[in-house]
Amino acid sequence: MEIDPSANTPREIYTRMVSLITPRPIAWVSTISNGGILNLAPYSFFNGVSASPPSVVFSPVNRADGTKKDTVINIEENGEFVINLVSRSMAETMNLTAGDFDFKENEFEIAGLETVSSQKVKPPRVAESAGHLECELIQIVHVGEGPLAANLVIGKVVHLHVDDQVLDEDGRVDPARLDNVGRLGGTAYSTTRDRFDLQRPAT
Ligand SMILES: Cc1cc2nc3c(=O)[nH]c(=O)nc-3n(C[C@H](O)[C@H](O)[C@H](O)COP(=O)(O)O)c2cc1C
Repeated sequence: MEIDPSANTPREIYTRMVSLITPRPIAWVSTISNGGILNLAPYSFFNGVSASPPSVVFSPVNRADGTKKDTVINIEENGEFVINLVSRSMAETMNLTAGDFDFKENEFEIAGLETVSSQKVKPPRVAESAGHLECELIQIVHVGEGPLAANLVIGKVVHLHVDDQVLDEDGRVDPARLDNVGRLGGTAYSTTRDRFDLQRPAT
């Protein structure tokens, strides 16, 4: 199959891209409006991009009506967010927070999630998550315009939390204990339980 993006709608290309770029990690992003309303939503166009400074990107695309998502509005207002990790036991709750809720609604309350304070930013963390990245905005890069165009959020990680229970005896993160999930295409997800190891080539 050959696909020419210019002969397809943004929605069709989106469907192809998310089924090909897999598995994608999930940033469960907590933010707060200047009026104090909490927001929580998952984003799987997400990754780390640098360790100096420690930085991440994630990409909230505009809604079908061309408006920005609440996460973007909050980050534009005050430049702070937290990326909460999603383990298998939390996947259903994470999915619930992806609903198209009104700006005034607090997804922590909707999903029955407990918050815990962050150390260096105002948005709180998801208490149940085994890891959190507290972030300050570096820049939002607007890629395209209109429906499904991206607001690529580039953030500097100013603090990391890791639950001691997911560490092995040497203090390293044990992927089995962390049990992160990844997103595939459509409604499909993967776990990180089926692993294999590869030694890097000698140089
Ligand atoms: C696992 C998962 C990953 C998602 N990834 C993205 C994404 O990368 N970009 C995006 O714009 N929306 C993504 N969504 C949809 C948003 O979570 C959804 O539009 C949400 O309502 C946005 O909330 P907000 O307006 O409170 O920011 C994803 C949904 C799920 C369930």
